[in-house]
Amino acid sequence: MEDNIASRLTSHRVPAVVPVQDILEDASAGLIDAPRSMPPKYFYDERGSQLFDAICETREYYPTRTEEALLRTCAREVIEQLRPDHIVEFGSGTARKTRHLFDACDRVGETAAYWPFDVCEEMLRDSGQQLVQEYDWLRVNALVGDYHGGLAGLPPREGRCLYLFLGGTIGNFTEQEAATFLAEVRAIMRPGDGLLLGADRVKDPGVLHAAYNDESGVTAQFNLNLLQVLNRELDADFCDTNFEHRALFNARASQIEMYLVSRCRQSVHLGSLGHTLELEAGERILTEISRKFTPARLESLLNGAGLAVQQHFEPDNGWFSLVLASPGEASVTSS
Ligand code: SAH
Ligand code: AVI
Repeated sequence: MEDNIASRLTSHRVPAVVPVQDILEDASAGLIDAPRSMPPKYFYDERGSQLFDAICETREYYPTRTEEALLRTCAREVIEQLRPDHIVEFGSGTARKTRHLFDACDRVGETAAYWPFDVCEEMLRDSGQQLVQEYDWLRVNALVGDYHGGLAGLPPREGRCLYLFLGGTIGNFTEQEAATFLAEVRAIMRPGDGLLLGADRVKDPGVLHAAYNDESGVTAQFNLNLLQVLNRELDADFCDTNFEHRALFNARASQIEMYLVSRCRQSVHLGSLGHTLELEAGERILTEISRKFTPARLESLLNGAGLAVQQHFEPDNGWFSLVLASPGEASVTSS
């Protein structure tokens, strides 16, 4: 029995086919001169991934609950429509919501191989082990890598594919990154394949603000954990009590912006770069954007990548979109 479980879980490293900067290059390009920033992928070491999970449990962070409710209702329809042989998920995390699709496979008597693709190896290992125990038919082929490194290096798969990009993570991409990424997804899709994309929507700024400034301070811990990652990876000496979490909604850009703000005038040594940062009180480092979409904006982003919206699932309050898209051009239907 144990052997059967182990044999259904494999792990592969996905080679980058387009150059991706490493943390030294990103820090050198992003931290040394103002405006300072770091890419959000560095949040997700083991602790950061656990903190993201804890964010999903906070009262204020509605995206996970909202998307999960949508998945609960649409999973069967999606599986029946696509009958996938493979489910490939970008930025899979714990794959908590993906279970609704596996449950739907169970109900309609389908089996599919699951390919979770994530930068966080520990999360892939833990979630993969859980999944093969929970679903006795499921093969999990974990893919470790950076999805900005291109998708042409994914292992070959025979048959129909359902691609998933959930959670609103597309919102953490710039406009250009989102267009490039969706074009990459489109390039590996074949007729009959589908992409299920979750995207957060524009809404009352108060609701957005609260979601990224939870009272329990978990989002603040998630943001500040980046400093521990930088200390470890760059031999740096950031002191987290010298920084504070700030998240604000930039209405003009339709995005949440998350910053680490220096509480005082300070020097921070980046050992691996042989450089000392001089930060003024109030100086900030942009750590994440989280873009909020309108249905029209989402559709034009997908169409621009050669993808057509087949189904648009949304709750009554319009807080989140789950869009099923396929290669080509077609019209939208709302469910
Ligand atoms: N899809 C899950 C998790 C979202 S959190 C959900 O909806 O709850 C974002 C996930 O993307 C994390 O698991 C993180 O490790 C992963 N991630 C972030 N940047 C990445 C990158 N450049 N390449 C691959 N995975 C990445
Ligand atoms: C993963 N991503 C969609 C989250 C978001 O809402 O942009 C990350 C996050 N940052 C702070 N809270 C959650």
